Amino acid sequence: MSRSVVILGTQWGDEGKGKIVDLLAHDVAAVVRFQGGHNAGHTLIVDGKKTVLHLVPSGILVDGVRCLIGNGVVVAPRALIKEIDALEERGIDVRSRLGISPACPVILGCHEALDRARESRRGKKAIGTTGRGIGPAYEDKASRHGLRLADLADPERLAEKLEGVLDYHNFLLEHYYQAEPVDGAEVADEAARLGEQLAPMLVDVTTELHRLRRDSARVLFEGAQGSLLDIDHGTYPFVTSSNTTIGGVMTGAGVGPTDIDYVLGITKAYTTRVGGGPFPTELNDDDGRLMAERGVEFGATTGRPRRCGWLDAVALKRMVRLNGITGLCITKLDVLDAFDKVRICTHYEGIDRFPLGAEEWSRVSPVYETHPGWDGDTRGLTELDRLPKAARAYLDRLEELVEAPVHMLSTGPERDANVIIRHPFKP
Ligand code: GDP
Ligand code: IMO
Ligand code: MG
Repeated sequence: MSRSVVILGTQWGDEGKGKIVDLLAHDVAAVVRFQGGHNAGHTLIVDGKKTVLHLVPSGILVDGVRCLIGNGVVVAPRALIKEIDALEERGIDVRSRLGISPACPVILGCHEALDRARESRRGKKAIGTTGRGIGPAYEDKASRHGLRLADLADPERLAEKLEGVLDYHNFLLEHYYQAEPVDGAEVADEAARLGEQLAPMLVDVTTELHRLRRDSARVLFEGAQGSLLDIDHGTYPFVTSSNTTIGGVMTGAGVGPTDIDYVLGITKAYTTRVGGGPFPTELNDDDGRLMAERGVEFGATTGRPRRCGWLDAVALKRMVRLNGITGLCITKLDVLDAFDKVRICTHYEGIDRFPLGAEEWSRVSPVYETHPGWDGDTRGLTELDRLPKAARAYLDRLEELVEAPVHMLSTGPERDANVIIRHPFKP
């Protein structure tokens, strides 16, 4: 029986990961984020009330669940404190339940400024980042001059490290990007002040996870973004700056591969993408508009409209293999209720292998299989035997194409709108 379950997005993000993490959090001792930052926007709808989480793990609405932020997550102290305060104002106990790795790289104001300056310099080739400073913060980690949360607690160390980082970033901002530099004293004051607030929550996440494993406790690892946004395996350079695929769990939380028992791939019944970059099955027609309207496809972090298209079984099969997916959860099936026909991309023309990078991706043309739509409403459905036959056939075909079983369906944004075929934590 599984004790550790990883939840990963298998497309370009916004597959509905947060909703499923919140649901499964009822069965676990802890929920752990391991990569990404506040570029993530995870929407939870519980008793009609909407909560959008960016850095705080999606287990926070379930009483007593420990929430951990592993070393692979880039943390913007200001955004995290704001999120914690907003949740606590609603009476949710966060500070006593949240543990954050002191090794998390810190996102400072200069990272956001650099993110924006880079995007504007790219012009038409802009990635369409969330503007949260994610890329520049991961760059600083890789270049080994970045700050970690532990540095904020020590005034001398903070001052010394900040001086070097700000000197370099302000030089780039002013002289390379012709942008406004950031005020060093302001950044330093804020970092010290927020560091003090975060200090009581700093814990060795790896040790905590090893203890939980030793005690046979159940743990959920919550991915952010989606596999096609992975820095190595996605549609580079139109990707985020972290490993969103399975390896990120190990490096970003400090656990081994044998500590993972089950990998749940979250997949929208169609496809969306926010920002720039190739998207073979994108629809710029009435079908695409209908998906956007029924699926309310606007970014949870930036409010930008999401691009929509049919399900891509070629990309999905690749991500199933690459992540070692145990089972899939197909979300937003209800959005397709209104379609007379549904399509799945079964292969690509114009290329004889899996595309590498944006140039090859943009040469790909999708070849579709068309399936009849279904009569009937799947919204809110919880029983498998009530699933319309044509919807069942669509899912059966998908399983066959991507060589992975569908273990769950999500049929609405609310916590309890699901069909559980095989529960990841149960035999
Ligand atoms: P995440 O980033 O993967 O957590 O996903 P987001 O929260 O950014 O986007 C998913 C959106 O779809 C949110 O607005 C959810 O409330 C909503 N949602 C999730 N599952 C379903 C579903 O099965 N049906 C419908 N109609 N909406 C869903
Ligand atoms: P969740 O966790 C969808 C996209 C941005 C942009 C690219 C790089 O809610 O699924 P970044 O700011 O990370 O440097 O932007 O990645 N992106 C997301 N798209 N969902 C997300 O997170 C995303 N996080 C980043 O739109 O195309
Ligand atoms: Mg999202």
